[in-house]
Amino acid sequence: MNDARIIGVVSGKGGVGKTSVTVNVGLALKELGKEVTLVDTDFDASNLGVHLGQYDHPVKIHDVLGAEAEPEDAIFRHSTGVKAVVASNEINRVEPDTELLRYLLETAGQESDYVLVDCPPGIDTTVEEIIDACDELLIVTTPTKTAATNAAQIIEKAKRMHVPVLGTVVNMSENDPGRELVENEVQVMTESDVVAEIPHDDKMKEALFHGTPLVHHEPLSEASLKMKELAHSLEGLQYSKPSFAKFKRKLGNLKEAVSR
Ligand SMILES: Nc1ncnc2c1ncn2[C@@H]1O[C@H](COP(=O)(O)OP(=O)(O)OP(=O)(O)O)[C@@H](O)[C@H]1O
Ligand SMILES: [Mg+2]
Repeated sequence: MNDARIIGVVSGKGGVGKTSVTVNVGLALKELGKEVTLVDTDFDASNLGVHLGQYDHPVKIHDVLGAEAEPEDAIFRHSTGVKAVVASNEINRVEPDTELLRYLLETAGQESDYVLVDCPPGIDTTVEEIIDACDELLIVTTPTKTAATNAAQIIEKAKRMHVPVLGTVVNMSENDPGRELVENEVQVMTESDVVAEIPHDDKMKEALFHGTPLVHHEPLSEASLKMKELAHSLEGLQYSKPSFAKFKRKLGNLKEAVSR
């Protein structure tokens, strides 16, 4: 296997859902039969492992970028079926070297169809090095002017660096046009296409608490369906929602309320 798509998931602003999108879209691609590797490049405040259920692995991305381990030693198979490379939670700064990072991502790509790179927030030189090591970018924002402004900055930077942008994911949308940006406004501000609009979903918090990514924790939730739709569109496939998803979801919520 070769020619994996190495996709950086970036935002500029922190806390908008990069790691959530990386993990859930990764799992949704896995459900489509794709081999996927998730890579945590949030060196200072890593939490891909937390999203995967406090998952730890003795060899971290820091070891590879510090030339203390080979990429193969850092790549492990997670119980969900995706592969992952996690980052250290210790406070030890990494100045990623694009070539070493690219070597890691390409090694992961040899055995994968997709390498999804969970990026840190910010628009500094670290993020620049990471963007430089990716083939394509998926931008994540919330429907707020602050996040969209930072998304626009990242997109501008990517354009200058000639790294293609697949489009923007608007996350935590509350469908509240009077108080948040609508799709068209995000498109105008970022000068990029909105490729997915993922609703705010309280189940996301619950999923994170249980260490089970949303698409597994609550597969029929509206946000899960949108993550799956995004995975389909990356594959160039049309997505059709499972029948009666809304009804089944309501029934599940009712059962949950009764059992409390
Ligand atoms: N669609 C959503 N609905 C509700 N909560 C969400 C949604 N997406 C993400 N969250 C929550 O928002 C918080 C931040 O998400 P996440 O860690 O994915 O963001 P991030 O962009 O990776 O943050 P950082 O910049 O710190 O790396 C988490 O608590 C997550 O559960
Ligand atoms: Mg994150």
